Amino acid sequence: MVMSKGAAMIGGDAIIGEAALIQRQHARRSQRWLKVAKIYNEFEEECATSNEKLKQIADAMTMEMHAGLASEDDSKLKMLVSYVENLPNGDEEGVYYALDLGGTNFRVLRVQLAGKSGIKSQEFVEVSIPPQLMVGTKQELFDYIATELAKFVGDESDKFHLPPGRQRELGFTFSFPVMQLSIASGTLMRWTKGFSIDDMVGQDVVSELTQAMKRKGIDMHVSPLVNDTVGTLARGRYDNNDVAIAVIMGTGTNAAYVEQAHGIPKWHGPPPKSGEMVINMEWGNFSSSHLPLTEYDTALDIESLNPGQQMYEKMISGMYLGEILRRVLLRMADEAALFGDTIPPKLKTPFVLRTPEMSAMHHDTSKDLRVVRHKLKDILEISNTSLKTRKLIVELCNVIATRGARLTAAGILGILKKTGRDIAKNGETPKTVIAMDGGLYEHYTEYRKHLENTLHELVGDELAECIKLVHSNDGSGIGAALLTASHSRYLEIDGS
Ligand code: BGC
Repeated sequence: MVMSKGAAMIGGDAIIGEAALIQRQHARRSQRWLKVAKIYNEFEEECATSNEKLKQIADAMTMEMHAGLASEDDSKLKMLVSYVENLPNGDEEGVYYALDLGGTNFRVLRVQLAGKSGIKSQEFVEVSIPPQLMVGTKQELFDYIATELAKFVGDESDKFHLPPGRQRELGFTFSFPVMQLSIASGTLMRWTKGFSIDDMVGQDVVSELTQAMKRKGIDMHVSPLVNDTVGTLARGRYDNNDVAIAVIMGTGTNAAYVEQAHGIPKWHGPPPKSGEMVINMEWGNFSSSHLPLTEYDTALDIESLNPGQQMYEKMISGMYLGEILRRVLLRMADEAALFGDTIPPKLKTPFVLRTPEMSAMHHDTSKDLRVVRHKLKDILEISNTSLKTRKLIVELCNVIATRGARLTAAGILGILKKTGRDIAKNGETPKTVIAMDGGLYEHYTEYRKHLENTLHELVGDELAECIKLVHSNDGSGIGAALLTASHSRYLEIDGS
């Protein structure tokens, strides 16, 4: 082909132009990546949790525990008295019910206990709570729950028959901060985990449930009222006598443990016969200047339903980890055009990136990180991401999960210290089994691994031999049924 001189020149300019364009694009891309790297490095650095820092956090936790046990007002940790003085011992018998409310789903259970032979049978239904009921009125929420409870009782098969003349007994697991007034009553102090039903705060939760049950024609006696951590502790103890602490790592987070009665100066009630009392720490509200707080945590807190509260929970629990990731990605999209010239609109939606999705991305072992690619596309409507971008996202998941898991380990160390389980007594170190439950612990493997490894690092090889974390499956529900059995008002009749 013969090309005229002019055409050849234009072609040459075009080639030079194209090369310049590619060069410019290349320069822009590397500049963007420099910005991304800067944001990433800052974040990683701010999230760092050296063992030394974790020990300071553990000490702060121990101190706050003392303060919360001394008085009702002086601590971020409420250290709530649960009125549970005795945990199940395996002798429990009969059919008991539990209602477990504490997140986006609630469960109703029926458990048949056969003394030393253990749990003979169990049945449950799980129902999700429509989001509008989580921010509506107390009557709407409790009527909804009571309706489902009525269905569950109505569908009961004959094998679960109760001795004649007995009322069904229902343990109520209500997993929010409650100031207990007795084993079967308590007022809601405040909501957490995305619930916000104003007319419920300050009200007795058992009385609200009982009224709703009456409205729906259910005849059941509600007792005890317990936190999910207390249920988990009961469930754990039922299986293993060395269980002394329970930790929930789920949508929210919290811990309960067995305290010596004389270690609770604020308790002015009758001394527990067992000499012990289960304490619901409400550790989600822990805070300390040692916590590695980032700008993302601060913004998340300010925009949350409960600003200034549950700071520890907001750094370590399932409701928030995915949201922290979204916030970091949003900043990278905004300031470093991580996903191109415009910010993907979905990325601007709070809580759109849930922790289970973050976990799935974090655990993506495929060479081309295709789980990450799919999640980005399905949830955030971001396509055409580079492998480099997807790798960065996995790294971010790791930073966030590692910080959360390590901070949780520090919290556990704080409890071990408070209860003297971190040192040998008379040459012997007490065995401590920690009952763990919650979706984050159960399903986020990397999180669980980091938590277990960090606790090991913090306590050292020797003590680590004496500390065991066990998964107490569905502890919150079954534990409440077990406590219903061990606190049954028919016990004395049966005994006599
Ligand atoms: C609540 C606790 C609960 C924990 C785990 C927190 O948000 O305040 O009462 O035990 O979540 O469900």
